[in-house]
Amino acid sequence: MTPYEIKQNDSVSDDVVWHNSTVTHEDRAKQKNQKPVVLWFTGLSGSGKSTVANAVESKLLSLGKHSYLLDGDNVRHGLNKDLGFSDQDRVENIRRIGEVAKLFVDSGAIVLTAFISPFIADRTQVRELLSEDQFLEVFIDTPLEVCEQRDPKGLYKKARAGEIKHFTGIDSEYQAPINAEIHVKTANKSIEECAEQIVSALITKEYI
Ligand code: ADX
Repeated sequence: MTPYEIKQNDSVSDDVVWHNSTVTHEDRAKQKNQKPVVLWFTGLSGSGKSTVANAVESKLLSLGKHSYLLDGDNVRHGLNKDLGFSDQDRVENIRRIGEVAKLFVDSGAIVLTAFISPFIADRTQVRELLSEDQFLEVFIDTPLEVCEQRDPKGLYKKARAGEIKHFTGIDSEYQAPINAEIHVKTANKSIEECAEQIVSALITKEYI
C-alpha cells in the first residue's frame, strides 16, 4: 500500500478546524475584475491541451486577467512525482490537481489545467469540489490518429512497440466528455482559433 492510499481513506481529524480568512474569495475576485473559474482541459496526449491552454493564458494576460496554468507534465515533476500511470495513480493525480485548482480559484485566479484526465468519474469529482459556475470542462477533441501522427514526444511509437505500458488511447482507456461546456474540435483549426473560441466562451459566459 502506498502512503497516499492510506491517507485517501482517512477523514479529517476533529482537531483540524477550518479557518475563515479575513480577505474573502469575493474580495480577491473583485480586485482582479474577473470571475474565478477552472478551465479543465481534457484530451489525449498530443491533442494540444498544453499548447492551446498556453495560448489562452497569453490572451488572458493581454486582457489584464490573472490566470494560472497547471500542466500535466510539469506537475508530475513536483507535486505528483510519486505517481505513475496506473489507473489508481491517475485517479490520485487528478484528485490532487482538483484540490490545488480549488485553492487557486479561491485566490481569485482563472485556473487552466492541462491533464489527460481520462476518466469521467475523476473529472466529475473535481467538478463537485467546486461551485457549479466554477468549473468549465474544455474538451480538446483531436482524433487519436492525428495525435499519433503528431507524436511530439515519440511516446505513441514507444507505446505501440510495448515499451510504455498503460498509454492512453493505446492500452489505457480515454473516456471523452459527454457534455463539455466548451468543445474544441482542433482538426482544421489553428492554435490561435482554438484559443479564440475559448476566450470568446469566457466572455459570453461573463467570466471576463
Ligand atoms: S493523466 O492521465 O494522469 O491525466 P497527465 O496529463 O498527468 O496524465 O500526464 C500525461 C503526460 O504524461 C502525457 O502527455 C505524456 O507526455 C506523459 N506520459 C508518460 N507515460 C504516459 C502514459 N502511460 N499514458 C499517458 N501519458 C503518459
